[in-house]
Amino acid sequence: MHKKNLRSAKMRSTTEKGNFNTSSSTTALLSSSMTKAVRALPLDELRKRKSSKWRKYPSDVLPLPVAEMDFPIAPAVKASLQDMLDRSDTGHLGAFPELFEAFAKFSQRQWNWQPDTTQIRIATDVGVGTVEVMRTLIKAEDKVMLNSPVYENIWKWISEEVKATLVDVPLAENELNYKLDLDAIEREYANGIKLHILCNPHNPVGIIYTRSELEKIATLAKMYGVIILSDEIHGPLAYNKKEFYPFLSVSDDAKEVGIIITSASKSFNLAGLKCALIITESAMLKEKINSMPSELTSRASLFGAVASTAAYSESDEWLDGVLITLNKNRNLIKKLIDSKIPTIKYRIPDFGYLAWLDVSSLGLGSDPAGQILERSKLALNAGILYGPKHSNFVRLNFGTSEEIINQAFDRLVKIL
Ligand SMILES: Cc1ncc(COP(=O)(O)O)c(C=O)c1O
Repeated sequence: MHKKNLRSAKMRSTTEKGNFNTSSSTTALLSSSMTKAVRALPLDELRKRKSSKWRKYPSDVLPLPVAEMDFPIAPAVKASLQDMLDRSDTGHLGAFPELFEAFAKFSQRQWNWQPDTTQIRIATDVGVGTVEVMRTLIKAEDKVMLNSPVYENIWKWISEEVKATLVDVPLAENELNYKLDLDAIEREYANGIKLHILCNPHNPVGIIYTRSELEKIATLAKMYGVIILSDEIHGPLAYNKKEFYPFLSVSDDAKEVGIIITSASKSFNLAGLKCALIITESAMLKEKINSMPSELTSRASLFGAVASTAAYSESDEWLDGVLITLNKNRNLIKKLIDSKIPTIKYRIPDFGYLAWLDVSSLGLGSDPAGQILERSKLALNAGILYGPKHSNFVRLNFGTSEEIINQAFDRLVKIL
């Protein structure tokens, strides 16, 4: 019954044969040219959603801030959850080795790297996992590095939750091409950094670190005794799977100094289900991670573990279908900017559904996102959330339909 549901759900999910438009600098690779694009739900359906993205603003606002997608979830994920509901299987989460197996095989298929399944632990979500790992490995007030502009909660996890000393080594930038500033990073490592949170790939700037950058970070970290915590939540959304390297896969040094924290929540839209993975390779780090309380697992959700297992084991085709739509959308944004507001600066991102837009030319003052929301009822995230020098940026979520993206630009054009 379960398998039958799953097959018919799979057939329903695929709507349109997709072709990657490779007009951007990176070439998207798909497992099969027959993969079908996954399409976003219509706006009236989306407005019935109860997630914060759809509840935060009044109904006349078009919300494109929070990083969640407007697609129907993968059919296998839906069937796995339905099966749980049908059997009223709604209890506590305990041992769940099938999730580790599913992730290891997914990782092998996607990135040609298999983590050791005995070195994976579950956490509630990437945020809780990161905070708990920091609490286990460092003392309050120890120095923790991030690289701005970066996902806003990383700032809060370090300063507000762990109360560590935050050291920002901004990314080096040239025309919106960002990279790690390795010289500045080494200087700060030498000044006593204990832990460095890498955002790999890097939200919001849309870049994926190169293998050589990661290898250098691993070498430096080993030299100066720094632990690297690599947040890889956006990894499965790389347009070119060959460009993304899980940190632990790049070298022996990386295995020794690194911890990956990841989740199916971003790439399969399961944020409400609460389940993330902490992955280590070194015996020393494994011992420390294993000393964390067993409640870490039971504070994640059974539904999250079940859904993530289905996502990692049975949803590659859905993910490729989502990437077909996202690829069209990232290029559509370029076209809309070029034709309607060419002074906005935009670099087509290498992964995911987040557009990082430099809107300094629009004369919207010190809070462009606030002005845009007030005057056009379009909600975007303010650049200042990601770094103190980025108030001239906004972040737009294009994990949605062409119609909604067009509407967003119509609203933007009207106020200019
Ligand atoms: C880089 C990064 N890490 C973590 C998160 C949040 O993950 P979680 O909901 O699992 O805490 C996000 C959400 O956008 C993110 O972009």
